[in-house]
Amino acid sequence: MLFLALFTVIFTVVLPLHWMRSTTAVVEPSFNSVSFHDLLTNVYGAENDHIFAVQPAGRHSNSTGPREVRKVKNREEKREEGLARARSSIRKVALGDHRSNLTPSTPHHDGYIPAGAVYHNPRLFYQSYLEMEKIFKVYVYPDGDLPIVHDGPCKDIYSIEGRFLHEMEHGVGKFRTNDPNAAHVYFLPFSVTWMVKYLYTPSSYDITPLKHFVSDYVKVISMRYPFWNRTRGADHFMLACHDWGPHASKGNPFLYNNSIRVLCNANTSEGFNPLKDVSLPEIHLFGGEVSPKLLSPPPDNAPRRYLAFFAGGMHGPIRPILLHHWRNRDSDFRVYEYLPKGVDYYSLMLNSKFCLCPSGHEVASPRIVESIYAECVPVILSDYYVLPFSDVLRWEAFSVQVDVSDIPRLKEVLSAIPESKYRNLKQGVRAVRKHFTLNQPAKRFDVFHMILHSIWLRRLNIKLG
Ligand SMILES: *[C@@H]1O[C@H](CO)[C@@H](O)[C@H](O)[C@H]1NC(C)=O
Ligand SMILES: *[C@@H]1O[C@H](CO)[C@@H](O)[C@H](O)[C@H]1NC(C)=O
Ligand SMILES: *[C@@H]1O[C@H](CO)[C@@H](O)[C@H](O)[C@H]1NC(C)=O
Ligand SMILES: *[C@@H]1O[C@H](CO)[C@@H](O)[C@H](O)[C@H]1NC(C)=O
Repeated sequence: MLFLALFTVIFTVVLPLHWMRSTTAVVEPSFNSVSFHDLLTNVYGAENDHIFAVQPAGRHSNSTGPREVRKVKNREEKREEGLARARSSIRKVALGDHRSNLTPSTPHHDGYIPAGAVYHNPRLFYQSYLEMEKIFKVYVYPDGDLPIVHDGPCKDIYSIEGRFLHEMEHGVGKFRTNDPNAAHVYFLPFSVTWMVKYLYTPSSYDITPLKHFVSDYVKVISMRYPFWNRTRGADHFMLACHDWGPHASKGNPFLYNNSIRVLCNANTSEGFNPLKDVSLPEIHLFGGEVSPKLLSPPPDNAPRRYLAFFAGGMHGPIRPILLHHWRNRDSDFRVYEYLPKGVDYYSLMLNSKFCLCPSGHEVASPRIVESIYAECVPVILSDYYVLPFSDVLRWEAFSVQVDVSDIPRLKEVLSAIPESKYRNLKQGVRAVRKHFTLNQPAKRFDVFHMILHSIWLRRLNIKLG
């Protein structure tokens, strides 16, 4: 099992960069992802327990008396024992022990049970999800002030920042704890988008104010609390959808190297490490809402007029290639830089079989989630992008990845996909929709919980003490 895990580490983390340039078309898509197995090296074998071994807490601060220290230590031990039990129960499922207990500990109305080809291993995912529901606790640092801390955008392209933050801080969910000694992870609740809004001088291209803010924030919490120093940030997480999230995280080298960075800009070529960082889906909410059109896609059997659709500006390295080859070239293959007047963006999505999702200024594209809502099979055109939830979801079951070098033959590639395969992909899209849906309040298995689960998986792999 460990062999298998190492094997997949090598093939999914090290090789894709090379593969993505050399593979042709979509025959065997090699998604730039990290598998569940890679993340759970602790679950599979004790050999790797040292990777994040860190000093246990309780001996850093002498401001508390010995009795208090003992109490804290007891709580920590309990917490680590809980994690060990979770690892063990997931390990049982991984090793195919069908006797393991899959019954949820708490009753809930949504009895959803993951199944089908869209998951790498639906039973493993389900077990891990149930364990998360049972014990996972997040401590949100109360430090820092509005507008940059404890708030984030809930509208437009970076809305996932604000929506996650608000759900975490004010949601009715049971994942937040006010007892930092009971927490498994610690959240730094700042918004990089608001840093850009309030600290950045437009057109200056000077992002040092963002780095300073992050650096100061970490300084404050590392002086006020013992938790940061204990793991050098490894059980802490930040979340940013803004393109500059990764740059801002450089404000503290431990945050950059050790912490779980939950980022839309999940570019492996810019330091994104899929073994510890989390790829965050970008969800564009005009006016704070998903377009009503996307909430009710046409019936499954309704014909779709166009083979493919894209509309968007000439940003970043990939779109110029796409626009150069396909802009206004083909009535069946709708590729626009600017949509003509009177043509509706979402109607085109709802009327196309495939929606092209090229990277722009950064690797993520809100088109991916919009395509899923529109039940239009996403076509991923990107380099170095780690797709969201790819530790759990098999993207090849509900999307198509085309190598950038194959953009000149894109129509040929998509036309060659047999109808039966297209049907399966579309069914896959419908099956994963719930994982990309924002609910208020959050619901089981929705995007909020999938993000939390990604964090949980990475935390499982960190062993304290
Ligand atoms: C912590 O311990 C150090 C040395 O052992 C001592 O100098 C310091 O005063 C102590 N601090 C508190 C708050 O007890
Ligand atoms: C954590 O480490 C930093 C730098 O080494 C130090 O300044 C700070 O006081 C430490 N925090 C705690 C709570 O001991
Ligand atoms: C972060 O990682 C880089 C590259 O491995 C290393 O050079 C640097 O010293 C690390 N910094 C810290 C604070 O761990
Ligand atoms: C990803 O990072 C690499 C290296 O910095 C860069 O060349 C590339 O343009 C980035 N991709 C996107 C879409 O921004």
